[in-house]
Amino acid sequence: MKLIFERSQPGRRAGTLPTYPDLPRAEIPEELRRAAPPRLPELAEPELVRHFTELSTRNFGIDTGFYPLGSCTMKHNPRVNERLVMLPGFRDLHPHQEERDAQGALELMWRLQEILVEVSGLDACSLQPAAGSQGELTGLMLMRAYFADRGEGDVRDTIVTADTAHGTNPASVTMAGYKLQKVRTDERGNLDVAHLRELVDEHTAGLMLTNPSTLGLFDEHIEEVAAIFHDAGALLYYDGANLNAVCGISRPGDMGFDIVHINLHKTFSQPHGGGGPGGGPIVVRERLEPFLPVPAVVREGDEFRLDYDRPKSIGKVRGFTGPFGVFVRSYAYIRSYGPRLREMSEVAVLNANYLLARLKDTYDLPFDRLCMHEFVLSARSLKREHGIAALDVAKRLMDYGFHPPTVYFPLVVPEALMIEPTETEPKERLDSFVDAMLAIAAEAAEDPEVLRSAPHGRPVGRLDEVRAAKQPIVKYGFEEHPETGPVAAQDVGEPRQLEAQKGA
Ligand SMILES: Cc1ncc(COP(=O)(O)O)c(C=O)c1O
Repeated sequence: MKLIFERSQPGRRAGTLPTYPDLPRAEIPEELRRAAPPRLPELAEPELVRHFTELSTRNFGIDTGFYPLGSCTMKHNPRVNERLVMLPGFRDLHPHQEERDAQGALELMWRLQEILVEVSGLDACSLQPAAGSQGELTGLMLMRAYFADRGEGDVRDTIVTADTAHGTNPASVTMAGYKLQKVRTDERGNLDVAHLRELVDEHTAGLMLTNPSTLGLFDEHIEEVAAIFHDAGALLYYDGANLNAVCGISRPGDMGFDIVHINLHKTFSQPHGGGGPGGGPIVVRERLEPFLPVPAVVREGDEFRLDYDRPKSIGKVRGFTGPFGVFVRSYAYIRSYGPRLREMSEVAVLNANYLLARLKDTYDLPFDRLCMHEFVLSARSLKREHGIAALDVAKRLMDYGFHPPTVYFPLVVPEALMIEPTETEPKERLDSFVDAMLAIAAEAAEDPEVLRSAPHGRPVGRLDEVRAAKQPIVKYGFEEHPETGPVAAQDVGEPRQLEAQKGA
């Protein structure tokens, strides 16, 4: 497929700007003017549309197929959410709108806060953080402010995370200026309580934990774990990335957690991926409320307003009040379930256990327990017996029309395949995924080369993913292609309109 710059023809345009003869030309100071026109691709509208449409067909999304990317909760995004977020009263709001003109939006945020408080089993919520990872950082900043306020700021300098933790956990701990300690996982996939007891002391500020863990397992000793930290005067932070497993069934606050972030874009639907768009509200126990970011959305009688008067607040962590479109979609998703919200989690857990039951005789299962909303298999036998790695299985799944699961995570499981089906998949889809996984395991024995060279028939084969992540080429190499790209305006003359006028 050609790059858009390679399709470019000098002078072609997809549209023309209206001319207003009465409007004076903007005076741009000489030093700010471009020496030459920008090198932008030049295409008529039909070619432009074809280019992006072709690109879109090369992508894989939840709307094109099953996307069991463990820990990421890629669930169907109901279209009604999109209709609601496009209502003019929401869509056309300006962040600087007067509070009295944005009562509906403020009420929606307030109601969402109330629901998240209820779901978490805690007391107060801030919608501000833009993602789970930012929620983590915000939560740790709250811990810092809380301990500083108690005069313990210099003493408590360490956070404990699990050795199964998502990479953002240790990263947030470091960014927040804390020392990191990792607790081991025991043979049943729980935190190793004996090891935990060795780690926790008067320097411990808190624990950061996902429950269920990234192994898809609910910690069987969570109350004992909470007591270890609370007895030492420390706090517990709940990474809510896996909340899809427990909504309406068990609550982090009841488990003993003091701060929770909720990945709205996972649990409560949201078209997401590639780093956004997301929402990572945090919910806290009463004693941490004074430190929450400002502004808080508050209700006074029938009025809603933004409250900046919070002297102990850690301040703002994001522009304005947070990612509003995400709030509307999440609120709509939650309200569509209403009091039956726990069905969402029940079906997510059921779907995961169905897949697990059908796959566990063919792939290795490191922790043989019922799972929550996701589970982790291992391809280590395939590797030992046929030289087939988890990566080969993942790449081959693409040939069968499935997005690969998360691989090589959590790090404690060699050749890990982390599978999360979510509640929005029907049984037939789950069965076809199982068929593909079983067929791949058979291929590993009969024709391993077909796996090693997969994917076949995709726009691209195996890529150097590390290089793609570390040295992304996001700019067209004009130097290498001097013949393409726009030329100076004087060489082109008037732009040519090569399509029918709009509405013709
Ligand atoms: C367990 C876990 N924690 C934290 C995060 C970070 O969340 P976000 O991607 O919203 O920053 C993720 C993301 O996948 C996760 O799976």
